[in-house]
Amino acid sequence: MSTYPNRRMRRKRNNAAIRKITRETSLSVNDFIYPIFVTYGKRVQDNIEAMPGINRVSIDNLKKEVDQICDLGIQAIILFGIPEVKDSVGSNSYNPNGIIQLAIKEIRKTRPDILIITDVCMCEYTDHGHCGITENGSVNNDKTLDILAKISTSHVEAGSDIVAPSAMMDGQVSAIRSSLDQNGYVDSLIMAYSAKYASGFYGPFREAAMSAPSYGDRQSYQLDKANIREAMEEIRLDVEEGADIIMVKPALSYLDVISAARNGFSLPIASYNVSGEYSMIKAAAQNGWIDEKRIALEILTSIKRAGADMIITYYAKEAAKWLSKTN
Ligand code: PBG
Repeated sequence: MSTYPNRRMRRKRNNAAIRKITRETSLSVNDFIYPIFVTYGKRVQDNIEAMPGINRVSIDNLKKEVDQICDLGIQAIILFGIPEVKDSVGSNSYNPNGIIQLAIKEIRKTRPDILIITDVCMCEYTDHGHCGITENGSVNNDKTLDILAKISTSHVEAGSDIVAPSAMMDGQVSAIRSSLDQNGYVDSLIMAYSAKYASGFYGPFREAAMSAPSYGDRQSYQLDKANIREAMEEIRLDVEEGADIIMVKPALSYLDVISAARNGFSLPIASYNVSGEYSMIKAAAQNGWIDEKRIALEILTSIKRAGADMIITYYAKEAAKWLSKTN
């Protein structure tokens, strides 16, 4: 009985209202987290070449940037810092007067309610560009944990709501959780970059943050692109260590990982629609080869459909504008 001609799938596609009311996935401005690159210096607002529309901004220009974000209805940002001075142990990453700590305080002056997420990693602060303390050319996991804990506590002290460790060190979530708790920050959240792959899609970000490793690569700490069971194990461990939100990164080439995480875990899932994914659409659109709005919204919807609850995306501003006009 339940086949043609009784069952006609097209009935639900015949007009906009029926399509809207039967739609399975929704995309809204509430889903977006907008990344901001904060840099040293004054009156800086320079465009990142491979990421049209995305700037590095200095602290004195932050208010303007954040006002614009809030006016568009975006409620969450993630901050990345570019310090003036880098050293082998990334000491400016946990400096109470470091770039991120000052940026958080500046934003909090006028925006007590915006959700501030801060990336916790060392690669932007080390002169070698690796995500941890290096010894004889490789990253020492356990020595790095102390620093990641210090960075996190300093961010929260400055006013960050959520710390997002992205270094892919074993035990980083529990090290951060105990440091936050010991300092009385029991209500501060951890968004763990749990399944973070060693990806070519981070290229434009590393140019933007000047954080490319000066030798070697990140394959000894980030996940191999071929693996999904290993990603599930990473997530399981982060959940056990006390993560509040888990992340899959990048998004597009890893939609299956998002989907598996959705089926296997009940915590909220973030996915990072990374720099290279943004650059590819921008480049094709600038050549007139694709319809930018249509493709960007299609991709963002696919990330939600795969199972993400929230998306870190450089498209947040544009998508917020598009979504306010279409439905
Ligand atoms: C820091 C970090 C990176 C990204 C986010 N946090 C770079 C990296 O791991 O090399 C990449 C984000 C993007 O490409 O948009 N470790």
